[in-house]
Amino acid sequence: MRQPLVAGNWKMNGSAESIKLLLDGIKKSLDTVSKAEVVVCPPYVYISEVQAQLAGTTVSLGSQNVNEHGAGAYTGEISTSMLLDFQCRYAIVGHSERRSIYGEDDAQVAAKFAAARAAGIKPILCVGEVLEEREQGVTEDVVARQLDAVIALEGVDALADGVIAYEPVWAIGTGKTASPEQAQDVHAFIRNRIARQSAAAAEKVQILYGGSVKGANAPELFSMPDIDGGLIGGASLDADEFISICQAAV
Ligand code: PGA
Repeated sequence: MRQPLVAGNWKMNGSAESIKLLLDGIKKSLDTVSKAEVVVCPPYVYISEVQAQLAGTTVSLGSQNVNEHGAGAYTGEISTSMLLDFQCRYAIVGHSERRSIYGEDDAQVAAKFAAARAAGIKPILCVGEVLEEREQGVTEDVVARQLDAVIALEGVDALADGVIAYEPVWAIGTGKTASPEQAQDVHAFIRNRIARQSAAAAEKVQILYGGSVKGANAPELFSMPDIDGGLIGGASLDADEFISICQAAV
């Protein structure tokens, strides 16, 4: 049995003040979340403060990115060991915004996955197609390529040490969610592709859906057999909305 996981990706949003209010709201209702592991991924500069505010709760901490190198002359970057100093258990790697705006390619994303894994941080590997690719019918090719880059570097069993997030790029921040069936099809494709090489890894790896998940559409999405939770952007900035998504994870 895979435990459901709901991770909030706050992106470049919030202030010290708004984050405190958000966390107060989440903490207040946390006991209504029975099944899901809850993760929040704040902007780097707030990680220390969020860690302090989450002390003694069941909420885990994640980062939105991580550098693939150990240490050194990488201005503006954050390493796995820095994240470990603040008990970050998760790191998002290969988010589509990192890929499209900051030019991260499959090889770099795979290196980030490897660095996080080596440090004992669970990478949340984001994969997904842009609208044009969906319309051309190449969604599975794109997702396979993104997945295979990690498998080629780390081996298929490494995937079980991380989490996969399927995020169709056309659904991110657009209010257009993939239908539960559309999402399930891609999730099943991912799990089957892994299963062809390792049944154990396929069974173990959590596959999250991301892209305009809200309290209202989460129950249907999360009821799909291969959807093990969600990676939540906009709706994770509202405590009540985020908690209702967490409650929907079964
Ligand atoms: P969204 O973002 O929920 O705002 O669509 C999801 C994500 O980018 O992880």
